[in-house]
Amino acid sequence: PAQTIIAPSILASDFSKLGEEARAVEAAGADWLHVDVMDGHFVPNITIGPDVVKAIKPHVKIPFDVHLMIAPVDAYLEAFVSAGADIVSVHPEAGPHLHRTLRRIRELGAKAGVVFNPSTDPSVIQWIMDDVDLVLVMSVNPGFGGQSFISSQLRKVERLRKMIDESGRDILLEVDGGVAPETAPLCISAGATALVAGSAVFRGGPDKYADNIRALRGG
Ligand code: DX5
Ligand code: ZN
Repeated sequence: PAQTIIAPSILASDFSKLGEEARAVEAAGADWLHVDVMDGHFVPNITIGPDVVKAIKPHVKIPFDVHLMIAPVDAYLEAFVSAGADIVSVHPEAGPHLHRTLRRIRELGAKAGVVFNPSTDPSVIQWIMDDVDLVLVMSVNPGFGGQSFISSQLRKVERLRKMIDESGRDILLEVDGGVAPETAPLCISAGATALVAGSAVFRGGPDKYADNIRALRGG
């Protein structure tokens, strides 16, 4: 199988130098840059907005994997795509019409992702498989980096692997939260094709990023 996509979450980086941090993980072998957007309403934390995404964008060439933890989400899609989001992922709970939201993301020119909280049943995508480019399974409750991996979500990854394979469509399957060298192989065995990692990539500082990314790929 193709090599697992590694998407470092800049949430765990030094916010006083986001451009530099983005360049450092790109140089260290990151495939995507994961951007966690939080509104203090959908999740109990506030992070960054479209202007910050726009400021980081020119520093790297790797795709921006933007995870929107904001509700209602629809009014902000255009701003994030204009700012440079290549993939935009939304939670089904973040708006009244998931299908319309996904269509809108594609219309704007980005890839459309759906994110499932640990308690959310993934069957909601069954009838909209044509409109999804990526499915993201949260293995922590969204809001903070550095939390521990919720193992029950591996069964959800397996379920989604099956749904995707049966659909015959080319849909990426990503896992986010508590992904570390110990949990990454479990996600990959369950069928994940992309892994988000914050603390496991950024710990130890820039000199360690390449080793940290290699460790997630299995050394
Ligand atoms: C949590 C975010 C995650 C988080 C991952 O709400 O969606 O992307 O930054 O951080 P770690 O890898 O430290 O669990
Ligand atoms: Zn995330």
